[in-house]
Amino acid sequence: MATGLEWTSATELAQLIRRVKLSPVELVEHLLARIEQVNPTIKEELAAYVRSPEGSTPKGKWADKKFVEEMGSAEFNAKLEKMQLADFHGHGFVFRAVWKKDAKGNLLDEAGQQVKDDDPDRWKKAVHLKDIHLEKGMHCADCHFTIDSHGDGKLYGELRAATAIKCQDCHGTIQKISDLKTTGNAGGQDLAKTRTPSAKARSSRKSPAVSLRSRMPKRRCINS
Ligand code: HEC
Ligand code: HEC
Repeated sequence: MATGLEWTSATELAQLIRRVKLSPVELVEHLLARIEQVNPTIKEELAAYVRSPEGSTPKGKWADKKFVEEMGSAEFNAKLEKMQLADFHGHGFVFRAVWKKDAKGNLLDEAGQQVKDDDPDRWKKAVHLKDIHLEKGMHCADCHFTIDSHGDGKLYGELRAATAIKCQDCHGTIQKISDLKTTGNAGGQDLAKTRTPSAKARSSRKSPAVSLRSRMPKRRCINS
């Protein structure tokens, strides 16, 4: 539930003032401090948009560069009570891990039993609902290229439009087995020709099966 004077209704505030439980000066000072906290100046807003051109940024903690740098690390996640953030290299987007929960938002373990909010091992007991690719050991860099974040020189109407890869570039379609060439708007990369940072080939093919080597160290996943 929302708390604090800024959330209290005008009639309740009037009553508090009448009963001398709150002074009008105290109230105004509180509201001015609150405005300063959540209403950035135009300059602060512009500075935040330069790093992350997204509507909610200026008012979010992720407008702070230091916050973004620390976000997602194990030490940072250990401080969070209600959520865990992903570790990524991005423009300040915040990616939250998704957990198995009941209809009331309580964390659930593998057997569907409630995990207590104050259990120090709650993030180990609760089920992290991973994307299948993450579960198999793939990472953002296995599907995304520098061009996805730094652009190809063209202006796109929205972010997704600049993505190089499409699902069918790895999985193929019902008519055609994948030839491992990216076909998104910023596409053109040939996964069969690219190498991992340790100079190993990204893919190998024993028709019709294709194996993909993850760009992350010591992980290999097979796409058949
Ligand atoms: C298995 C491949 C794969 C992995 C792994 C992957 N992505 Fe993507 N991502 C895609 C595809 C394909 C699209 C384009 C989807 C479309 O065309 O609708 C995409 C789109 C996106 C977009 C644009 C979405 C939008 O709404 O405009 C962002 C941002 C993004 N990915 C970030 C990430 C991050 C961060 C990670 C790692 C946490 C990640 N992706 C991991 C395949 C992947
Ligand atoms: C870079 C290549 C790549 C891209 C792009 C990609 N995938 Fe995958 N996908 C894989 C690999 C590798 C696996 C794991 C296969 C295995 O080990 O069984 C997988 C597994 C899957 C599975 C599970 C299949 C199963 O039989 O269990 C689904 C579903 C899936 N991907 C959907 C998608 C969707 C939807 C997209 C687009 C958003 C996408 N994939 C993009 C490589 C890719």
